[in-house]
Amino acid sequence: MRSIRTTALTAVASATLVASLTGVALAGTTSPAAAAPSPDLSVTNVTASLQALQDIATANGGNRATGRPGYKASADWVRARLDAAGFTTQLQSFSTSSGTSYNVIADWPGGDPEHVVMTGAHLDSVSAGPGINDNGTGSAAILEAALAWAASGNTARNHLRFAWWGAEEQGLLGSNYYMRTLPTADKDRIDLYQNYDMVGSPNPGYFVYDDNPVGNEARDAMTAYYTSKGIPWEYIDVQGRSDHASFRSYGIATTGMYAGGEDIKTSAQAQKWGGTSGRAFDPCYHRSCDTMANINSTALDRNLDMIGHMVWLYADKDLGGTSVPPTGTNLLANPGFESGAASWTGTSGAITSNTGRPAHAGSWKAWLGGNGRTATESVQQQVTIPASATAASLSYWLRTDTAETGSTAYDTLKVQVVSGGTTTTLRTVSNAGATATWAQTTHSLLAYRGKTITVKFLATEDSSLQTSFVLDDTAVTTS
Ligand code: PHE
Ligand code: ZN
Ligand code: ZN
Repeated sequence: MRSIRTTALTAVASATLVASLTGVALAGTTSPAAAAPSPDLSVTNVTASLQALQDIATANGGNRATGRPGYKASADWVRARLDAAGFTTQLQSFSTSSGTSYNVIADWPGGDPEHVVMTGAHLDSVSAGPGINDNGTGSAAILEAALAWAASGNTARNHLRFAWWGAEEQGLLGSNYYMRTLPTADKDRIDLYQNYDMVGSPNPGYFVYDDNPVGNEARDAMTAYYTSKGIPWEYIDVQGRSDHASFRSYGIATTGMYAGGEDIKTSAQAQKWGGTSGRAFDPCYHRSCDTMANINSTALDRNLDMIGHMVWLYADKDLGGTSVPPTGTNLLANPGFESGAASWTGTSGAITSNTGRPAHAGSWKAWLGGNGRTATESVQQQVTIPASATAASLSYWLRTDTAETGSTAYDTLKVQVVSGGTTTTLRTVSNAGATATWAQTTHSLLAYRGKTITVKFLATEDSSLQTSFVLDDTAVTTS
């Protein structure tokens, strides 16, 4: 199971952890900056930007597709706007089978370099047309948010980066290239990637990406925004159909919004959103008619303000900041299992107060194995190791007893860390040498600085003769 595919329970546990870290920051020396109120971004400016992209297409054979002159002209146009506003920009080129393409990356100077909030949209169209809804809308909306931030004079707590991707229509090539070539340390600095692809569909819906539970906090901020404005929304599992995919598969929290494409609006959806049922959200999806006429300006305006809200909110959000939890703070919740299964996921019933085995302290523990038949049991919890930690460790008490004899490992307990989709086994314990006494073990987690990881204890038993791995008083501490 990949770390980003953990259950909702794990996401709740990590939200609780973030809340408790925030509490630490409040009690310590760092006080969070007051968040700037969300802006009312100008849909008039966005419409002017869409017209500029339409004009670029018209002057370049009717499209802004990869390998065609209208794409490079679009990238140059966006970059010039950002340069003029004070962004530090890069034109990142890469090759595709349709020709050279470009990403435009724009950094707003300042903010905590260890906490990067990224906002992106693909800038290319298909070759059939000018791509005004797909994805002039996302491109122009995030441009407006970036320019408005620059003009606001606000100071961001976090580092803001915006991206306009090339060759999305060829298979997410620009965003994949960016993540593939970004040094690991820089990938690990990205706390959130939000993606906007088609936000002004003519027969609109309001679909919030729901395919990355780690992004729940940002996803929840987005849905809360729509709810506060009285705009009904639905979740959509985008399934890697846009540029958040390479961020998501690295394990970065992602969210995004989609106003709908080739799919048909149902009558229930038309009832809550208006528009026409039995008709596509965007009947001009990937067609020559995806022009200035193919936009619902109410949807565009609403989604623009939502994007402004998200950028402003995450510009100032405490994402761990420079505040470090005091040395020795246990970052695991319910570490001694005395609150039952709270904050842990895994095999139900493994966390128990059953007196068939002792606890190290209190009466609850995680009793993995002990079945005497083929079984796999685990308990796990997600935790974020602060980027600024100079030491980080996992410790736990373990008591192993067995009905097996001899030195062959029949039943095992693995102590694992899942990070960015990779599972690393820190230690394997087996029935061999089990003494039914308590011992404490510590492993370094320093390699996971700045990462959200899952600490996992995984027991596997063979078909006969039980081995019980009893785990208690766990801790992840940093300094
Ligand atoms: N990425 C798709 C395109 O550009 C559109 C899309 C966005 C589809 C989000 C699903 C979800 O064609
Ligand atoms: Zn498209
Ligand atoms: Zn698109």
